[in-house]
Amino acid sequence: MGPRWGVIIGGLPNMPNTILVGAQWGDEGKGKIIDYLTERADIVARSQGGNNAGHTVIVGKDKYVLHLLPSGILRKDKVCVIGNGVVIDPVDLVREIEGLRARRIPVNKNLVISDCAHVVLPYHRQIDELREKAKGRKKIGTTKRGIGPCYGDKVERIGLRMGDLLDDANLLKKLKSRILENNRILKAMGGTPLNAKAVSRDYLEAAKKLRPFITNTVVYLHEAIQSKKRILFEGAQGTFLDLDHGTYPYVTSSNTTAGGACTGTGVPPHRIDRVMGVMKAYTTRVGEGPFPSESPELSDRLHDMGREFGSTTGRARRCGWFDAVATRYATMINGIDEIAVTNLDGLDALKTIKICVAYEVGKRTVEVPPSDVSELLLATPVYIELPGWQQNTADIRSFDKLPARARTYLKKICSLTGARLKLASVGPDRDQTMVVP
Ligand code: IMP
Repeated sequence: MGPRWGVIIGGLPNMPNTILVGAQWGDEGKGKIIDYLTERADIVARSQGGNNAGHTVIVGKDKYVLHLLPSGILRKDKVCVIGNGVVIDPVDLVREIEGLRARRIPVNKNLVISDCAHVVLPYHRQIDELREKAKGRKKIGTTKRGIGPCYGDKVERIGLRMGDLLDDANLLKKLKSRILENNRILKAMGGTPLNAKAVSRDYLEAAKKLRPFITNTVVYLHEAIQSKKRILFEGAQGTFLDLDHGTYPYVTSSNTTAGGACTGTGVPPHRIDRVMGVMKAYTTRVGEGPFPSESPELSDRLHDMGREFGSTTGRARRCGWFDAVATRYATMINGIDEIAVTNLDGLDALKTIKICVAYEVGKRTVEVPPSDVSELLLATPVYIELPGWQQNTADIRSFDKLPARARTYLKKICSLTGARLKLASVGPDRDQTMVVP
């Protein structure tokens, strides 16, 4: 071990390590952009969130929806890392792995899982659901995957980690004690106490299957950097679902912004070379919470086109106009250098397109989202309007061939966001992605 550490600390590799973040409320089309960027990476790492995420990737005629596995798993010769900041439902992860294997996607030496990632247990899921029910109209609209309660246990320092799955006796002991306490909590909340034996059986079975993947991923990633491997940090959810910077309490329970990639993998900030932000050409949000530029008219139009239904829960997403107040703030928090704009084709038919450039909050006009959710709920958007291109873009493969008004629109939303337009996407297929010259 000794000499290896010296090498790791001493070297200053100049690597194109990229963090990819969602610049809105999640569902920006990250799965597709990650898949595209993966071609130029050696390793794809997840750093936060859990199976609340749903990254859709279309390869030819095949559609894959990945929840916990990084999208890099679909490409040969890439290694996928599930970092320490992720929360893992082991039973669900085994299901996802076996689902891919059944479709002839290998999951073997191309996956490593951090021994420090926390374990989602059935009581987390039940507590998530019971809390939402108790909140009534004030519910968050969670995915009910137990994400919040699992991160809660992590912060409370009472969680189980993937390393605990390495030893049957240790796992059984910890499960027994945690289930005992949580059954008391479940009873008090009106839930159904768990059968410790059944849970233990399921988790022991999953543990056996996951053991070969569990390791110290910090060392793995540092050695990879040292040998000049390129890492793509795959963000899940979006900037405004960030626990600290999002529209709290209507957020998820992890840091979805760029900093989370470092804490969630143990790769230090100065090893990161660029941050790419993914945003839709309009805005969507699932779950409750403020959404200043929401437009029922645009929602209806997109839903009628069969678009904007959640890939994890199937819920219809709320839709609205592009919100440059939000994306500008996202650029600030994440340090976004380059932008990928997805779903441009969703706006093809529109005669005019609105862009939110400021909010009116009471008598004030603001260009930064208020931190207080009650103020944000009152924010009225200030719009500018651009003429639509009213032309089908889904078959266009080069940026120069896009209608002039579509190019103007893309450039406008990126200049308002404050970063360079790098990729534009006009559909779910791999070849519907254009590099901007
Ligand atoms: P949780 O992450 O399940 O606790 O849900 C908290 C909030 O984040 C809810 O509004 C969810 O709809 C939202 N959320 C969680 N994961 C995603 C995602 O992958 N895309 C979009 N929204 C998400």
